[in-house]
Amino acid sequence: MSAFASYSTPVPTDPAVDALVAALPKVSLHCHLIGSVAAGTVAELAAKHGVPLGRSAEELYDHHSYEDLGEFLRVLDVVGSVIRDVDDFHRVTYESLTAGGAAHGVLYREIQLSPPGHPDVPYPRILEGVLAGIADARADTGVEARVVVGINRERSGADAVELVEQVVAHRVDEVLGIGLDYAEVNGPPGRFVEAFRLAGRAGLRRTAHSESGPPRHIEVLLDDLGCDRVDHGYHVVDDPAITARCVEERVPFNCTPVSSDIGRYSGSGDGTHHRIREMVDAGLVVTIDSDDPPMFGTDPTHDYRVLAHALGYGRDQLAAITRNGVEASWLDDTDKAALLARVDALVAAIPDPTDAPTEPEEAVR
Ligand code: ADE
Ligand code: ZN
Repeated sequence: MSAFASYSTPVPTDPAVDALVAALPKVSLHCHLIGSVAAGTVAELAAKHGVPLGRSAEELYDHHSYEDLGEFLRVLDVVGSVIRDVDDFHRVTYESLTAGGAAHGVLYREIQLSPPGHPDVPYPRILEGVLAGIADARADTGVEARVVVGINRERSGADAVELVEQVVAHRVDEVLGIGLDYAEVNGPPGRFVEAFRLAGRAGLRRTAHSESGPPRHIEVLLDDLGCDRVDHGYHVVDDPAITARCVEERVPFNCTPVSSDIGRYSGSGDGTHHRIREMVDAGLVVTIDSDDPPMFGTDPTHDYRVLAHALGYGRDQLAAITRNGVEASWLDDTDKAALLARVDALVAAIPDPTDAPTEPEEAVR
């Protein structure tokens, strides 16, 4: 019987793994703000704004129905629609970074923010609440955060350009770059060349989701959109030449084990996570995060726990994944060095089972 039956992907009880993943410092590069809102908070915000949810907080997130990305995105839209004013954005950002971040050892997060998921809220109001939430979370827990603004790829290229124009017009230091999210099948990356080039000219960093698309899409991200990292990208391993290029160029891949297993992107929904294993074994720079944690019945600790069980990773392999997150982050070199020093100090304090002193021979006899 698992001690984690409330998670979508229960694993066997193992106190050593639990202690390891709890103590591990984490760098979070792939967590969507809308997808990280606790069900109870959604219910309270819906009540505040008089929005009928039609179901209780407990029934809101039906993890395993999200094998269908369309169904998942429909629930995401409902959540986005109840986050309406500056206080709401402050609250969900704060909760995501504290209970949903710092409490799990997250030292640094680049929040994936989706302004198109809040169609009635002007971008400057969204930003005001998010920045206030970041500042308060930092003051209360020490967690650091920046923002990646996501383009909804199911919309037009012109909509994407308009969003980048907003980001540039309301430029703040915390917004480091842009991403590309929602369903890849409805929005091939080539549609967004103009928006991404505009972002590049404005000095914004670029990433994009590639969950279900062919390896060729990864080349489009790198060559045409100017991305310097990839969200998910599991199909890279289907093409040895593109894999070799990404290894050579140290292109980071932000992987999300639990949500991508449910969505059948990184495995077959069977908990093997075989594509993530192949990516690590190929020498790719892999980072781990929890995507839309409460919606997929996970949290930042549980994604590491699941991977530790599925792939047999111990302290050093999991710490290498956190260090990949520091390398893949969009912090400047000084801030990266400071973050790496914090990670190294925390990892050094975690006991490595292979360092355990062995019994003297006499005592064994
Ligand atoms: N949020 C927005 N788009 C998403 C996607 N494609 N996968 C997971 N979460 C998302
Ligand atoms: Zn995502």
